[in-house]
Amino acid sequence: MKIGLLGHGVVGSGVTAITDSCAVKKVRRLEVSKILVKDESELTDPRCTLNVEDILEDPDIEVVAECMGGLEPAHTFVARALGSGKHVVTSNKKMFAHYCEELFALAEENGVSIRYEASCGGGIPWMTNLARVKRLEAIESFRGIFNGTTNYILSRMAETGSEFAENLAEAQRLGYAEQDPTDDIDAHDVKYKTALTAVKAFNTLVDLDSIPTYGISNVAAEDFSWGKEHGLTLKLLGAGKAGEEAVSLYVMPVFVKSGDIFANVNANYNAVQSDSRTLGEAVYIGQGAGSLPTAHAVVQDLLDIYQGQDSENIAPKHLPVNNDSVKEQFYIRTQRPEVFAEVAAETAGNVIITKEISLSEVNRLISSAEDRSLFAAIVSR
Ligand SMILES: NC(=O)c1ccc[n+]([C@@H]2O[C@H](COP(=O)([O-])OP(=O)(O)OC[C@H]3O[C@@H](n4cnc5c(N)ncnc54)[C@H](OP(=O)(O)O)[C@@H]3O)[C@@H](O)[C@H]2O)c1
Repeated sequence: MKIGLLGHGVVGSGVTAITDSCAVKKVRRLEVSKILVKDESELTDPRCTLNVEDILEDPDIEVVAECMGGLEPAHTFVARALGSGKHVVTSNKKMFAHYCEELFALAEENGVSIRYEASCGGGIPWMTNLARVKRLEAIESFRGIFNGTTNYILSRMAETGSEFAENLAEAQRLGYAEQDPTDDIDAHDVKYKTALTAVKAFNTLVDLDSIPTYGISNVAAEDFSWGKEHGLTLKLLGAGKAGEEAVSLYVMPVFVKSGDIFANVNANYNAVQSDSRTLGEAVYIGQGAGSLPTAHAVVQDLLDIYQGQDSENIAPKHLPVNNDSVKEQFYIRTQRPEVFAEVAAETAGNVIITKEISLSEVNRLISSAEDRSLFAAIVSR
Protein backbone atom coordinates (compact mmCIF):
# COMPACT_ATOMS: atom_id res chain seq x y z
CA MET A 1 0.00 0.00 0.00
CA LYS A 2 1.56 3.27 -1.11
CA ILE A 3 1.46 6.16 1.34
CA GLY A 4 2.05 9.86 0.77
CA LEU A 5 3.45 11.51 3.88
CA LEU A 6 2.77 15.21 4.45
CA GLY A 7 5.43 16.65 6.77
CA HIS A 8 8.73 15.12 7.81
CA GLY A 9 9.29 16.70 11.21
CA VAL A 10 9.18 15.03 14.64
CA VAL A 11 6.21 12.74 13.89
CA GLY A 12 6.69 12.33 10.12
CA SER A 13 10.31 11.24 10.48
CA GLY A 14 9.20 8.78 13.18
CA VAL A 15 6.75 7.29 10.67
CA THR A 16 9.46 6.66 8.06
CA ALA A 17 11.81 5.38 10.79
CA ILE A 18 9.24 2.72 11.67
CA THR A 19 7.97 1.82 8.19
CA ASP A 20 11.45 1.74 6.64
CA SER A 21 12.96 -0.61 9.20
CA CYS A 22 10.17 -2.68 10.75
CA ALA A 23 10.75 -6.41 10.33
CA VAL A 24 7.05 -7.31 10.56
CA LYS A 25 5.85 -8.52 7.16
CA LYS A 26 2.59 -6.57 7.13
CA VAL A 27 4.33 -3.33 8.08
CA ARG A 28 6.87 -3.89 5.28
CA ARG A 29 3.86 -3.65 2.92
CA LEU A 30 3.26 -0.06 4.06
CA GLU A 31 5.41 1.84 1.63
CA VAL A 32 5.92 5.56 2.16
CA SER A 33 6.48 6.38 -1.49
CA LYS A 34 6.49 10.19 -1.35
CA ILE A 35 7.17 12.74 1.37
CA LEU A 36 6.09 16.37 1.21
CA VAL A 37 8.65 18.77 2.71
CA LYS A 38 8.68 22.55 2.74
CA ASP A 39 12.22 23.57 2.11
CA GLU A 40 14.83 22.59 -0.48
CA SER A 41 17.28 21.91 2.35
CA GLU A 42 14.97 19.06 3.43
CA LEU A 43 15.21 17.20 0.11
CA THR A 44 17.46 14.63 1.75
CA ASP A 45 15.55 11.52 0.67
CA PRO A 46 14.79 10.61 -2.95
CA ARG A 47 11.11 10.28 -1.97
CA CYS A 48 10.92 13.94 -0.88
CA THR A 49 9.04 16.50 -2.92
CA LEU A 50 8.20 20.17 -2.52
CA ASN A 51 5.04 19.79 -4.59
CA VAL A 52 1.94 18.40 -2.88
CA GLU A 53 0.42 17.58 -6.30
CA ASP A 54 3.03 14.81 -6.62
CA ILE A 55 1.11 13.11 -3.78
CA LEU A 56 -2.48 14.24 -4.29
CA GLU A 57 -2.43 13.54 -8.04
CA ASP A 58 -0.61 10.21 -7.78
CA PRO A 59 -3.20 7.49 -8.45
CA ASP A 60 -0.96 4.83 -6.88
CA ILE A 61 -1.02 6.55 -3.50
CA GLU A 62 -3.92 5.09 -1.53
CA VAL A 63 -3.35 6.78 1.81
CA VAL A 64 -2.19 10.23 2.87
CA ALA A 65 -0.62 10.55 6.34
CA GLU A 66 -0.81 14.17 7.47
CA CYS A 67 1.87 15.08 10.04
CA MET A 68 2.37 18.77 9.18
CA GLY A 69 0.37 20.41 11.94
CA GLY A 70 -1.54 23.71 11.88
CA LEU A 71 -4.89 24.51 10.29
CA GLU A 72 -3.83 25.41 6.75
CA PRO A 73 -2.76 24.09 4.36
CA ALA A 74 -3.19 20.81 6.30
CA HIS A 75 -7.00 21.04 6.17
CA THR A 76 -7.09 21.74 2.42
CA PHE A 77 -4.64 18.94 1.63
CA VAL A 78 -6.59 16.43 3.76
CA ALA A 79 -9.92 17.48 2.23
CA ARG A 80 -8.48 17.12 -1.27
CA ALA A 81 -7.01 13.70 -0.47
CA LEU A 82 -10.38 12.43 0.81
CA GLY A 83 -12.17 14.04 -2.15
CA SER A 84 -9.96 12.10 -4.54
CA GLY A 85 -10.70 8.80 -2.80
CA LYS A 86 -7.58 8.47 -0.65
CA HIS A 87 -7.76 7.34 2.96
CA VAL A 88 -6.26 9.76 5.49
CA VAL A 89 -4.42 9.34 8.78
CA THR A 90 -3.70 12.48 10.77
CA SER A 91 -1.82 13.33 13.94
CA ASN A 92 -3.06 16.93 13.81
CA LYS A 93 -5.55 17.51 16.65
CA LYS A 94 -5.90 21.22 16.01
CA MET A 95 -6.89 20.77 12.36
CA PHE A 96 -9.10 17.75 13.03
CA ALA A 97 -10.87 19.31 16.02
CA HIS A 98 -11.81 22.27 13.81
CA TYR A 99 -12.81 20.38 10.67
CA CYS A 100 -13.78 16.84 11.66
CA GLU A 101 -17.43 17.21 10.66
CA GLU A 102 -16.58 18.25 7.11
CA LEU A 103 -13.83 15.64 6.85
CA PHE A 104 -15.99 12.76 8.16
CA ALA A 105 -18.65 13.71 5.58
CA LEU A 106 -16.07 13.81 2.78
CA ALA A 107 -14.70 10.42 3.85
CA GLU A 108 -18.21 8.98 3.87
CA GLU A 109 -19.07 10.42 0.45
CA ASN A 110 -15.92 8.99 -1.04
CA GLY A 111 -16.02 5.60 0.66
CA VAL A 112 -12.70 6.08 2.49
CA SER A 113 -11.55 6.31 6.10
CA ILE A 114 -10.08 9.09 8.17
CA ARG A 115 -8.25 7.94 11.29
CA TYR A 116 -6.77 10.11 14.04
CA GLU A 117 -5.37 7.89 16.80
CA ALA A 118 -2.13 9.92 17.13
CA SER A 119 -3.95 13.22 17.52
CA CYS A 120 -5.07 12.42 21.03
CA GLY A 121 -2.95 10.72 23.67
CA GLY A 122 0.05 10.32 21.31
CA GLY A 123 1.20 6.72 21.51
CA ILE A 124 -1.60 5.56 23.83
CA PRO A 125 -4.19 3.52 21.92
CA TRP A 126 -6.99 5.75 23.26
CA MET A 127 -9.28 6.12 20.25
CA THR A 128 -8.99 2.41 19.46
CA ASN A 129 -9.92 1.43 23.00
CA LEU A 130 -12.83 3.87 23.11
CA ALA A 131 -14.11 2.31 19.88
CA ARG A 132 -13.77 -1.18 21.39
CA VAL A 133 -15.69 -0.22 24.53
CA LYS A 134 -18.40 1.34 22.36
CA ARG A 135 -18.95 -1.97 20.56
CA LEU A 136 -20.58 -3.19 23.78
CA GLU A 137 -21.88 -0.16 25.60
CA ALA A 138 -22.02 3.61 25.82
CA ILE A 139 -19.11 5.48 27.36
CA GLU A 140 -20.49 7.49 30.25
CA SER A 141 -17.55 9.73 31.06
CA PHE A 142 -13.82 10.24 30.60
CA ARG A 143 -11.00 12.26 32.09
CA GLY A 144 -7.35 12.49 31.23
CA ILE A 145 -3.93 14.03 31.53
CA PHE A 146 -3.72 14.79 27.82
CA ASN A 147 -0.66 17.03 27.65
CA GLY A 148 2.88 15.91 28.46
CA THR A 149 4.42 19.40 28.51
CA THR A 150 2.14 20.72 31.22
CA ASN A 151 2.33 17.45 33.14
CA TYR A 152 6.12 17.74 33.11
CA ILE A 153 5.93 21.32 34.45
CA LEU A 154 3.37 20.46 37.15
CA SER A 155 5.27 17.33 38.23
CA ARG A 156 8.51 19.32 38.59
CA MET A 157 6.77 22.06 40.55
CA ALA A 158 5.26 19.44 42.89
CA GLU A 159 8.63 17.74 43.32
CA THR A 160 10.88 20.77 43.78
CA GLY A 161 8.62 23.56 45.08
CA SER A 162 9.98 25.77 42.30
CA GLU A 163 8.10 28.36 40.26
CA PHE A 164 6.34 27.99 36.92
CA ALA A 165 8.68 30.14 34.77
CA GLU A 166 11.83 28.17 35.55
CA ASN A 167 10.11 24.85 34.85
CA LEU A 168 8.68 26.12 31.57
CA ALA A 169 12.22 27.20 30.58
CA GLU A 170 13.53 23.74 31.51
CA ALA A 171 10.75 22.05 29.48
CA GLN A 172 11.74 24.22 26.50
CA ARG A 173 15.42 23.36 26.97
CA LEU A 174 14.56 19.63 26.92
CA GLY A 175 12.41 20.03 23.80
CA TYR A 176 9.16 19.14 25.66
CA ALA A 177 7.74 22.65 25.19
CA GLU A 178 7.78 24.71 22.02
CA GLN A 179 9.33 28.18 21.87
CA ASP A 180 5.76 29.53 21.73
CA PRO A 181 4.19 27.37 24.47
CA THR A 182 0.76 29.08 24.42
CA ASP A 183 -1.21 26.13 23.05
CA ASP A 184 0.14 23.89 25.81
CA ILE A 185 0.13 26.16 28.87
CA ASP A 186 -3.17 27.87 28.04
CA ALA A 187 -4.58 24.36 27.46
CA HIS A 188 -5.86 24.81 23.88
CA ASP A 189 -4.07 21.55 23.07
CA VAL A 190 -6.03 19.75 25.81
CA LYS A 191 -9.24 21.42 24.62
CA TYR A 192 -8.77 19.97 21.11
CA LYS A 193 -8.08 16.51 22.55
CA THR A 194 -11.07 16.75 24.90
CA ALA A 195 -13.30 17.73 21.97
CA LEU A 196 -11.96 14.86 19.83
CA THR A 197 -12.44 12.41 22.70
CA ALA A 198 -16.08 13.57 22.92
CA VAL A 199 -16.42 12.91 19.19
CA LYS A 200 -15.13 9.36 19.57
CA ALA A 201 -16.58 8.50 23.00
CA PHE A 202 -19.98 10.23 22.83
CA ASN A 203 -20.37 10.74 19.06
CA THR A 204 -20.90 14.38 19.94
CA LEU A 205 -19.53 17.51 18.37
CA VAL A 206 -19.40 20.77 20.32
CA ASP A 207 -18.39 24.31 19.55
CA LEU A 208 -14.73 24.44 20.67
CA ASP A 209 -15.23 27.87 22.27
CA SER A 210 -17.96 26.49 24.50
CA ILE A 211 -15.54 24.23 26.42
CA PRO A 212 -14.42 26.09 29.56
CA THR A 213 -10.64 25.98 29.33
CA TYR A 214 -8.31 26.94 32.17
CA GLY A 215 -4.59 26.48 31.73
CA ILE A 216 -1.61 26.63 34.04
CA SER A 217 0.18 29.85 33.04
CA ASN A 218 -0.79 31.47 36.39
CA VAL A 219 0.04 28.49 38.60
CA ALA A 220 2.48 29.28 41.44
CA ALA A 221 4.52 27.40 44.03
CA GLU A 222 2.09 28.60 46.73
CA ASP A 223 -0.72 26.60 45.06
CA PHE A 224 1.34 23.42 45.47
CA SER A 225 2.08 24.32 49.11
CA TRP A 226 -1.66 24.58 49.77
CA GLY A 227 -2.20 21.25 47.99
CA LYS A 228 0.55 19.53 49.97
CA GLU A 229 -0.98 20.65 53.27
CA HIS A 230 -4.23 19.00 52.17
CA GLY A 231 -2.73 15.78 50.71
CA LEU A 232 -3.40 16.91 47.13
CA THR A 233 -1.38 17.53 43.99
CA LEU A 234 -2.19 19.43 40.82
CA LYS A 235 -2.86 17.91 37.42
CA LEU A 236 -4.28 19.53 34.28
CA LEU A 237 -7.26 17.44 33.18
CA GLY A 238 -9.65 17.34 30.27
CA ALA A 239 -12.93 15.69 31.23
CA GLY A 240 -16.36 14.90 29.85
CA LYS A 241 -19.69 13.32 30.70
CA ALA A 242 -22.25 12.14 28.15
CA GLY A 243 -25.79 13.47 28.08
CA GLU A 244 -28.91 13.40 25.93
CA GLU A 245 -29.56 17.12 25.58
CA ALA A 246 -26.07 18.44 26.35
CA VAL A 247 -22.63 17.17 27.29
CA SER A 248 -20.40 18.26 30.12
CA LEU A 249 -16.87 19.06 28.94
CA TYR A 250 -14.15 21.10 30.57
CA VAL A 251 -10.40 21.57 30.79
CA MET A 252 -9.09 22.64 34.18
CA PRO A 253 -6.32 22.04 36.71
CA VAL A 254 -7.53 19.65 39.40
CA PHE A 255 -6.14 19.07 42.89
CA VAL A 256 -6.19 15.27 42.96
CA LYS A 257 -5.76 13.16 46.11
CA SER A 258 -2.34 11.59 46.54
CA GLY A 259 -3.98 8.14 46.22
CA ASP A 260 -5.59 8.99 42.87
CA ILE A 261 -4.01 7.03 40.04
CA PHE A 262 -3.45 10.30 38.14
CA ALA A 263 -1.43 11.77 41.04
CA ASN A 264 1.35 9.32 40.25
CA VAL A 265 1.48 9.90 36.50
CA ASN A 266 4.43 12.21 36.23
CA ALA A 267 6.90 13.81 33.84
CA ASN A 268 5.76 13.90 30.21
CA TYR A 269 3.46 10.88 30.54
CA ASN A 270 -0.26 10.97 29.75
CA ALA A 271 -3.06 9.01 31.40
CA VAL A 272 -6.61 8.70 30.14
CA GLN A 273 -9.63 7.01 31.67
CA SER A 274 -13.02 6.00 30.39
CA ASP A 275 -15.97 4.84 32.43
CA SER A 276 -18.72 2.58 31.15
CA ARG A 277 -21.30 0.26 32.69
CA THR A 278 -19.73 -3.21 32.60
CA LEU A 279 -16.05 -2.39 32.03
CA GLY A 280 -16.10 0.28 34.72
CA GLU A 281 -13.09 2.57 34.96
CA ALA A 282 -10.37 1.69 32.45
CA VAL A 283 -7.12 3.67 32.62
CA TYR A 284 -4.45 3.82 29.91
CA ILE A 285 -1.03 5.31 30.63
CA GLY A 286 1.79 5.96 28.20
CA GLN A 287 3.79 8.44 26.20
CA GLY A 288 1.45 11.14 24.98
CA ALA A 289 4.02 12.64 22.62
CA GLY A 290 7.44 12.10 21.08
CA SER A 291 8.58 11.04 17.66
CA LEU A 292 8.38 7.25 17.85
CA PRO A 293 5.44 6.81 20.25
CA THR A 294 3.31 9.18 18.16
CA ALA A 295 4.50 7.67 14.89
CA HIS A 296 3.63 4.25 16.34
CA ALA A 297 -0.01 5.41 16.56
CA VAL A 298 0.11 6.74 12.96
CA VAL A 299 1.49 3.41 11.72
CA GLN A 300 -1.17 1.48 13.67
CA ASP A 301 -3.82 3.53 11.83
CA LEU A 302 -2.09 2.81 8.51
CA LEU A 303 -2.11 -0.90 9.33
CA ASP A 304 -5.81 -0.76 10.20
CA ILE A 305 -6.50 0.79 6.80
CA TYR A 306 -4.29 -1.81 5.10
CA GLN A 307 -6.25 -4.56 6.86
CA GLY A 308 -9.52 -2.99 5.72
CA GLN A 309 -10.75 -2.24 9.22
CA ASP A 310 -13.78 -0.07 9.36
CA SER A 311 -13.27 3.39 10.76
CA GLU A 312 -16.61 4.79 11.80
CA ASN A 313 -17.11 7.87 9.66
CA ILE A 314 -20.28 8.53 11.64
CA ALA A 315 -21.47 12.11 11.49
CA PRO A 316 -21.30 13.28 15.09
CA LYS A 317 -24.37 15.05 16.46
CA HIS A 318 -24.13 18.65 17.61
CA LEU A 319 -24.81 19.22 21.28
CA PRO A 320 -24.29 22.19 23.57
CA VAL A 321 -21.89 22.08 26.51
CA ASN A 322 -23.55 22.35 29.89
CA ASN A 323 -21.52 22.04 33.09
CA ASP A 324 -24.33 22.63 35.59
CA SER A 325 -23.99 19.03 36.79
CA VAL A 326 -20.27 19.39 37.57
CA LYS A 327 -20.62 20.27 41.24
CA GLU A 328 -17.29 20.68 43.00
CA GLN A 329 -15.36 22.80 45.44
CA PHE A 330 -13.00 25.19 43.64
CA TYR A 331 -9.66 26.73 44.64
CA ILE A 332 -9.50 30.33 43.41
CA ARG A 333 -6.43 32.53 43.89
CA THR A 334 -7.32 36.04 42.81
CA GLN A 335 -6.70 39.73 43.28
CA ARG A 336 -10.49 40.12 43.53
CA PRO A 337 -11.56 37.75 46.34
CA GLU A 338 -14.67 39.89 47.00
CA VAL A 339 -16.23 38.58 43.76
CA PHE A 340 -16.31 35.09 45.30
CA ALA A 341 -17.46 36.11 48.80
CA GLU A 342 -20.96 34.64 48.44
CA VAL A 343 -19.71 31.21 47.42
CA ALA A 344 -16.70 31.06 49.76
CA ALA A 345 -16.44 28.22 52.28
CA GLU A 346 -12.96 29.32 53.39
CA THR A 347 -10.91 32.43 52.65
CA ALA A 348 -7.22 32.89 53.41
CA GLY A 349 -5.83 36.13 51.98
CA ASN A 350 -6.31 36.00 48.24
CA VAL A 351 -7.18 32.27 48.21
CA ILE A 352 -10.80 31.17 48.32
CA ILE A 353 -12.08 27.65 48.62
CA THR A 354 -15.65 27.69 47.43
CA LYS A 355 -18.59 25.76 48.74
CA GLU A 356 -19.72 22.99 46.44
CA ILE A 357 -20.98 24.89 43.40
CA SER A 358 -21.38 24.16 39.72
CA LEU A 359 -18.63 24.73 37.18
CA SER A 360 -21.11 26.89 35.24
CA GLU A 361 -21.45 29.18 38.24
CA VAL A 362 -17.73 29.40 38.87
CA ASN A 363 -17.21 30.22 35.18
CA ARG A 364 -19.59 33.16 35.49
CA LEU A 365 -17.85 34.46 38.60
CA ILE A 366 -14.38 34.07 37.06
CA SER A 367 -15.48 36.02 33.97
CA SER A 368 -16.90 38.80 36.10
CA ALA A 369 -13.70 38.99 38.22
CA GLU A 370 -11.73 40.09 35.11
CA ASP A 371 -8.48 39.14 36.88
CA ARG A 372 -5.83 38.09 34.37
CA SER A 373 -3.65 36.67 37.15
CA LEU A 374 -6.39 34.43 38.59
CA PHE A 375 -5.63 30.76 39.08
CA ALA A 376 -8.51 28.30 39.37
CA ALA A 377 -8.61 24.58 40.06
CA ILE A 378 -11.09 21.92 41.10
CA VAL A 379 -10.52 20.45 44.58
CA SER A 380 -11.20 16.70 44.49
CA ARG A 381 -13.30 15.40 47.30
N1 LIG B 1 5.53 16.04 18.33
C1 LIG B 1 4.71 15.24 19.00
O1 LIG B 1 5.11 14.57 19.95
C2 LIG B 1 3.27 15.13 18.61
C3 LIG B 1 2.44 14.26 19.32
C4 LIG B 1 1.10 14.10 18.93
C5 LIG B 1 0.60 14.86 17.88
N2 LIG B 1 1.45 15.73 17.23
C6 LIG B 1 0.89 16.50 16.13
O2 LIG B 1 1.47 16.05 14.92
C7 LIG B 1 1.62 17.15 14.01
C8 LIG B 1 3.09 17.28 13.61
O3 LIG B 1 3.84 17.56 14.76
P1 LIG B 1 5.43 17.55 14.74
O4 LIG B 1 5.84 17.61 16.17
O5 LIG B 1 5.94 16.45 13.90
O6 LIG B 1 5.71 18.96 14.07
P2 LIG B 1 7.05 19.39 13.32
O7 LIG B 1 8.23 18.73 13.92
O8 LIG B 1 7.01 20.88 13.24
O9 LIG B 1 6.84 18.77 11.87
C9 LIG B 1 5.95 19.27 10.94
C10 LIG B 1 6.70 19.29 9.63
O10 LIG B 1 5.78 19.63 8.59
C11 LIG B 1 6.40 20.61 7.80
N3 LIG B 1 5.41 21.42 7.11
C12 LIG B 1 4.57 22.34 7.64
N4 LIG B 1 3.84 22.91 6.67
C13 LIG B 1 4.24 22.34 5.53
C14 LIG B 1 3.88 22.51 4.17
N5 LIG B 1 2.97 23.41 3.80
N6 LIG B 1 4.50 21.77 3.23
C15 LIG B 1 5.45 20.88 3.57
N7 LIG B 1 5.84 20.65 4.84
C16 LIG B 1 5.24 21.39 5.80
C17 LIG B 1 7.22 21.43 8.76
O11 LIG B 1 8.20 22.17 8.07
P3 LIG B 1 8.79 23.53 8.76
O12 LIG B 1 9.41 23.10 10.03
O13 LIG B 1 9.73 24.01 7.73
O14 LIG B 1 7.61 24.43 8.96
C18 LIG B 1 7.82 20.34 9.63
O15 LIG B 1 8.97 19.79 9.06
C19 LIG B 1 1.05 18.37 14.74
O16 LIG B 1 -0.29 18.54 14.40
C20 LIG B 1 1.16 17.98 16.20
O17 LIG B 1 0.20 18.62 17.01
C21 LIG B 1 2.75 15.87 17.57
